[in-house]
Amino acid sequence: MATRRVSRRQFLEGTGTALTVAAVAPALRAQPSPSAPGTRTSITLTVNGSKRTLEVEDRWTLVEALRDHIGLTGTKIGCDRGECGACTVLLDGKPVYSCSQLAIWADGRAVQTVEGLLNDPLQREFVAHDAPQCGYCTSGQLMSAKALLNTTPHPTADQARAAMTGNICRCSGYNHYVDAVVAAGNNAGGPRAFQASGSGSAESLAVQTSTIGALTTIGHATHRIDAVERTTGKATYSGDVMLPGMLYARVLRSPHPHARIVRIDASKALALPGVKAVVSNENCKVVWGAGSISGGAQYNEEIKKITKHRRYAFNNPVRFVGEPVAAVAAVDRHTAEEALQLIAVDYEPLPFVLDPEEALKPGAPQIWPEGNLSPNARNENVPIGAKRGNVDDGFAASDRVFEDRYSTSFVHNAQMEPRVCVAAWDADKLTVYTPTGGVANCRTDMARDLGIPPEKVRVVCRYMGGNFGNKNQNQDADLIAAVLAKNAGAPVKLELSRKEDFIGVHGRWPTAQYYKVGVKSDGTLQAIQLRGYSGMGPYRKNTGNIAGVELYQCPHIETSISPVYTNRTVSANFRGPEFPQGFFGIQSMMDDVAAKLNMDPVEFILKNMTRKAGDQTPYTSYSLDECIRRGAEAFEWKKRWRSRPGSDSGPIKRGAGVSFMAFRAGLGRSSAVIRVDAKGRYAVHVGVTDVGGGAKTTMGLIAAEELGVPLSQLDVVWGDTDRCPYSVGESGSRTTIMTGYAVVEAARDLKKQIAEKGLPTGDNVLIASANPNPTVQGKVRSTFGAHFVEVEVDAELGRVRVTKYLAVHDCGRIMNPLTARSQIKGGATMGIGMALHEDLVYDRRSGSPLSAGYYGARVATHRDAPEIEVIFIESDDGLGPFGAKSMGESSKVPSPAAVANAVFNAIGVRMKDLPITREKIVAALAGREVRA
Ligand code: FES
Repeated sequence: MATRRVSRRQFLEGTGTALTVAAVAPALRAQPSPSAPGTRTSITLTVNGSKRTLEVEDRWTLVEALRDHIGLTGTKIGCDRGECGACTVLLDGKPVYSCSQLAIWADGRAVQTVEGLLNDPLQREFVAHDAPQCGYCTSGQLMSAKALLNTTPHPTADQARAAMTGNICRCSGYNHYVDAVVAAGNNAGGPRAFQASGSGSAESLAVQTSTIGALTTIGHATHRIDAVERTTGKATYSGDVMLPGMLYARVLRSPHPHARIVRIDASKALALPGVKAVVSNENCKVVWGAGSISGGAQYNEEIKKITKHRRYAFNNPVRFVGEPVAAVAAVDRHTAEEALQLIAVDYEPLPFVLDPEEALKPGAPQIWPEGNLSPNARNENVPIGAKRGNVDDGFAASDRVFEDRYSTSFVHNAQMEPRVCVAAWDADKLTVYTPTGGVANCRTDMARDLGIPPEKVRVVCRYMGGNFGNKNQNQDADLIAAVLAKNAGAPVKLELSRKEDFIGVHGRWPTAQYYKVGVKSDGTLQAIQLRGYSGMGPYRKNTGNIAGVELYQCPHIETSISPVYTNRTVSANFRGPEFPQGFFGIQSMMDDVAAKLNMDPVEFILKNMTRKAGDQTPYTSYSLDECIRRGAEAFEWKKRWRSRPGSDSGPIKRGAGVSFMAFRAGLGRSSAVIRVDAKGRYAVHVGVTDVGGGAKTTMGLIAAEELGVPLSQLDVVWGDTDRCPYSVGESGSRTTIMTGYAVVEAARDLKKQIAEKGLPTGDNVLIASANPNPTVQGKVRSTFGAHFVEVEVDAELGRVRVTKYLAVHDCGRIMNPLTARSQIKGGATMGIGMALHEDLVYDRRSGSPLSAGYYGARVATHRDAPEIEVIFIESDDGLGPFGAKSMGESSKVPSPAAVANAVFNAIGVRMKDLPITREKIVAALAGREVRA
């Protein structure tokens, strides 16, 4: 059969699986024999060595055919537009993005997917090197690497990087993917076992500095218990769920940054064959509680009653481009997309404002009747802040006073798995399959928003493709899918495209930060004042705070931060919510103060950094001194740092930067249940979902250690509210500390029961549960760290290359050195991206986002990721499970500041606005205005 001709150019201008008939229709019309939507063509493929005949529609993409119609869900969709590589398969042996290929183009050709790799050396090395974190990008990385090894059996690291550079990993396991591919080339067919768990190369991964005793299971490099599933395509993500009779949903989104909806007419959409339900503000008044938490306070029934700025699943007026206007459920995704175009909406455009400082000026467009300064939980429109001493006294006592402004941009979480939800009702019980970092929180949210008892909601998340703060509660997509499923009387799958995920969910809030700092001539801080503005979008999903000032010893401090409503995509949690942007501002400012005082920034930090929380409360343990001194020595700071910034001759300039961090590691409530049967097999039930940090494995390690049994003797049960107890949820880097603490308590109880009663017999089991809520009294529990970065800047092109990166962290006891390193490297790489590239750029005239997507936002790729060295300094404060502290967010926190300070040291010009793009560097060196 001849391949049907469909214009590739026209196709690529569409959005892959989000491809609409409108996008393809012009191309089809130009052809001699167009086939109507729904008309099928018979094609034959050889898939993983087996011949498959399929009846396909012209508009089906190859990935759609593989996933939905052949059932090979190991191939993932990350962007649906040929940007991320998650859907990479081999077509006649060549790697292609299967989201950018029509199925009919593959007629008569051979396709290889991850399911076609059987115990491949690459898979074994991916597991051994802990390359997959969330695992969502893994099959794409594997297939690109496979293509490389087919032609280059022993690749170098550079060749591996080049081969996989089209495969984005937002968990940023780039170092480990490259190492794994090189190792696979060196060891092809070698003896490494392909197993779920066991000791990795523990020697090379040993913690460098430890004053605490070794344990039996914890602290040894251990493969993730689900590494094989994540490396073979067997892990089931929410988008892989298929239910009988399932409908597909799509969302119509606002093209206006601010508009009143005058009329919605969905009659034509409802008349389209295959459409089963349409919802909009007119027939769906569900409040999305977690979508606008009052004053940044956790949304609950009390807050719900008093908040004035209530957010609905569908709002009128709409307040940002991309806000949901209506949603359709239909028999397939293409029909749903056709139907969206048949919904007539009359808008009355309203004035809009994008910039938080502009939004507070007199006469600015008002997004809410009470004004654009977002109210706190008591509905008071006042800034947030902190005060210690009297800054006027501090400035009067200072020898030098410095003032400056810094700004940061909106950066998106950009987790590889876009939002997706499958909702199904069984009588009055709702089951939601959704990628959430907190199944228990999601259930509470869904029950509250839909007005049903929590026990009538089941939330399931087997695997999820990254979180980074983007999926902590329920999402509007979950609510919309649930309402559509109810109305249609059938299960509904709602998938967001990458663009929708960028503009429709949330990212990190952009800031403007004005600092005033007073110092003695020896560099001793006297006063710090911060006036800040945070752009929250039109709904407040987090505090909007700007952190960092509190990490300095200083007698006089005053901060005033205004969380401001704007007509841009909403801002909220993203890996260390208020920290990376705040640390960039204050630690750039302090680096500049040190430079103006001719001080080494390391000396300045050691003189002024926190030694007690808020200069008053002792830490449970303290290692910041050691992090900085140890790091400076290992990094060879004195050799790399330029005492005269920008002093290198020639266009290629090198410099070094440093920053430090402390991040919360408090204790709190979570739960665990452990069961043992007559065979001595343990089941550890925990409400974690494992966003990529290895939570399931960590819970297993903790249980095994406390129970005194090997990891292989227990199973971890996770990600299902009907099977697991409450867990705090994977946000705030709390899972290891809080749920791990509960696992220890439950294991102790079970051990006691076994000691008293012996192991159960027959069909009996022993069960222990724990729901502890520990607190820290009179002290503050914190994790500490310091990052050291060397960069090379091409002063003519503005290009920045990170040539050395060292991250030193005290995260308490390291539970698993293998996965811990992955966490630190991932956060640091994200920080590099935030410092140098990432930004959601807006058209100021239309209020539309221009760079929503991986390429547009310049998310870091294999080519951008340097080799990152990690040093762990272990301490034990006697709290937390075996002394563990928080980790997941901490490495992102100091990274942008360290990179920015290194750029200053290289070029001698302070870059004050993130991202530090090439254009800004070239302009700065030419003495032109560089303000964002
Ligand atoms: Fe690559 Fe998560 S492992 S995106």
